[in-house]
Amino acid sequence: MFSRFRQALPRPLSHSTIAYAYARAAVSRHRLPPGDLARLDVEEKTDRAFILHQAERLGPIFKAIGWGEFYICVVGLALGRRLLRDHGDDLRPMTLDLTSLFPKGFLRQMQGDDHRHYRRALNRAIKPGDLEAGTRELEQIALCALADYAAGEGAPREAAEAYLATLSTITTAMTIQLFFGAAPGTAAYDRLLAGYRKLGPHGLVWNVTPQQQRAFVEIRDFLQERFAGDPARLDPAARQSVLGRMVEDGMPDATMIGNLIYMVETGRYDTHALLRWLTKHAVDNPAMLARMAAEADAAPAPGVTFTEAFVLETLRMNQSERLMRRAQRDFVFDGFLIPKRATVRVCLWESHKSPDAFPQPFEFNPDRFLTAPPSSDAFAPFGLDQHKCPFSDMSVRMSVLFLRALARSYTVAAVADGRPIRGAYHWEPATHFGVRLQRRTSSPA
Ligand code: HEM
Repeated sequence: MFSRFRQALPRPLSHSTIAYAYARAAVSRHRLPPGDLARLDVEEKTDRAFILHQAERLGPIFKAIGWGEFYICVVGLALGRRLLRDHGDDLRPMTLDLTSLFPKGFLRQMQGDDHRHYRRALNRAIKPGDLEAGTRELEQIALCALADYAAGEGAPREAAEAYLATLSTITTAMTIQLFFGAAPGTAAYDRLLAGYRKLGPHGLVWNVTPQQQRAFVEIRDFLQERFAGDPARLDPAARQSVLGRMVEDGMPDATMIGNLIYMVETGRYDTHALLRWLTKHAVDNPAMLARMAAEADAAPAPGVTFTEAFVLETLRMNQSERLMRRAQRDFVFDGFLIPKRATVRVCLWESHKSPDAFPQPFEFNPDRFLTAPPSSDAFAPFGLDQHKCPFSDMSVRMSVLFLRALARSYTVAAVADGRPIRGAYHWEPATHFGVRLQRRTSSPA
């Protein structure tokens, strides 16, 4: 069975994880989850709902192959949460390995006391009350970048690339401002931007090379210099930033500073991808964009706004995809053997398509979030366990500010579009998806 499946594959597989899984199953009282070892990386390219179909056929826990590795897929948030809770020590989050840049590596990968310690320090610096003040200028960042884009729109062929660059400008400026309190147009901002351009010139760099080492040291040394001394003497923007709030208790250690630098790096790409999907849904639903424009000018009302609901529905439909873990040892879950080194994928995108929780789950309908909020067993775009995104509120807020800036000033049309594609890390709108921004001439209400 093994050699047949090996021959059929165009890409080399990591035989060790697959061979190990079968070897352990042969001597275990427990069997591997069901499944015919379909190739996720191949099947999902043509059918995004492939895992959903497999789950209907095989049940919510099944095995597969993906990107050369042995995979276990888990569909359903309650099930995924129980797996992560009961086997937290057996499963390690899969993410960037940054241990060559600073001790203890990325928060996402820490476990136990280290994780608790750094997560607590971060939470202290991002209390929701502070967040409101720190995000006031962010709408202005989006407005300026969108105005530049609207003024310089070129040929449709170039629109996709130019719009990507605009979103990148917005999310880089927003995250640098939030974390380090440097606003575009200042010398501090230019220094940090130059560092980040070196760190990830064309997107997130997964494997740290000497170029990332150099860029990282440049950013770190600059921040240590900028935030040294008496915190009371920092300028107000720097004091309000995440690092500014941390230095009130003394300069954070190398691990915390390293983490903040990389939170900006990963955060600007995560948010960038989300803004792109928000734009795509706005293009597909012009009446909703007009509704958001009217809301942006109305007095604030209690409860979830339509714009927030639009962000949540975009997360449900697209941006939120999966939690990735690597099994650290053999263990048994719901009667199935989960072998050491298996890649465990807790499937959020699929879980968010449950018709019981979300009637007509493939329809884009933000109104569903305006009534009772879904339970965390139905909707968890920012994760399920102690590694849940600490910036979930901030990400929704940044998205709302972006949408307000867009909706208030422009109508948006696609100049090129097509089917979504599986990009390097996530599903994305079509490669050529580009937009035309046209100034609103009248009030949308
Ligand atoms: C400013 C932007 C953002 C920053 C700085 C940020 C930062 C982080 C950090 C540091 C963690 C790890 C927390 C821990 O291990 O304790 C995390 C987790 C996570 N983030 Fe974010 N994030 C951002 C935006 C987003 C966005 C837009 C999404 C979209 C869905 C997202 C989804 C997630 C998810 C699903 C996890 C959990 C990962 C897991 O359990 O494996 N984040 N984020």
